[in-house]
Amino acid sequence: MGNPLARAAGMVRGVVVVTGTDTDVGKTYATAALALAGYSAGRRRVAVYKPVQTGVVGDDSGDVDDVARLCAAAGLPGGALTTHEGQRLSEPMAPPPAADLDGVALLSLDDHAERIAALLHEHDLVLVEGSGGVLVELDGEGHNIADLTQIIRRAVDPHVHVVLVVRSGLGTLNHTLLSLEALCRRGVRVLGTVLGSWPADPQPLHETNRNYIRTIQAQDGTNIPLLGAVPQGWGAADGM
Ligand SMILES: Nc1ncnc2c1ncn2[C@@H]1O[C@H](COP(=O)(O)OP(=O)(O)OP(=O)(O)O)[C@@H](O)[C@H]1O
Ligand SMILES: [Mg+2]
Repeated sequence: MGNPLARAAGMVRGVVVVTGTDTDVGKTYATAALALAGYSAGRRRVAVYKPVQTGVVGDDSGDVDDVARLCAAAGLPGGALTTHEGQRLSEPMAPPPAADLDGVALLSLDDHAERIAALLHEHDLVLVEGSGGVLVELDGEGHNIADLTQIIRRAVDPHVHVVLVVRSGLGTLNHTLLSLEALCRRGVRVLGTVLGSWPADPQPLHETNRNYIRTIQAQDGTNIPLLGAVPQGWGAADGM
């Protein structure tokens, strides 16, 4: 199993926040591929943190467990990766209603930042996988993953960047541009985009979308690089 995001290897260090244009776009797959990329560039201690994992009951497997399985299948040595969840909720929905239905309070962004700071103390790379898309509320106080990234920038890692995972099919250009605009408007630095699931038999639509996405520029006119594409079925040998 190769590393689809090898191009990003030298760029991932410190804290990297993985968000997406939507739920189910491949953030967890991209997170695993970024963990491998970082390891291959010498980040020997890698942590993955999921602030709020929804849709799990008891010891159901969550996204961080999927990252661990994907990384193990790709040959990441045991012990190189540690996985952490801030909080788990049973309903598969956005954190605020899921917390309401479970009758619990959500952790604050400061709580998450403290945990991420502790992880950064012990690791060379900390990957933080958000819930759903960019503007999904994480804390019940109206704050989202862009706000968490800004707290991390001020209090934990001044070089924190976001990776935006996007779809390859119809509709992705609008979702990608909207998400990038929301991130840029909030002053969040974007390391690049990732195509979360690249079809085995790409059609002209996928190719033209990819060509467009690799040319997108930030407000300052610099290119936002396409870091790579995770092939559909990557990790399938491990039953995912
Ligand atoms: N590269 C891929 N290869 C195979 N399947 C994929 C790939 N990317 C995404 N999928 C499929 O899409 C589903 C969602 O992917 P993934 O769990 O990575 O999305 P996500 O953005 O992390 O979702 P969530 O918002 O629930 O965290 C997977 O369960 C899998 O079925
Ligand atoms: Mg996920």
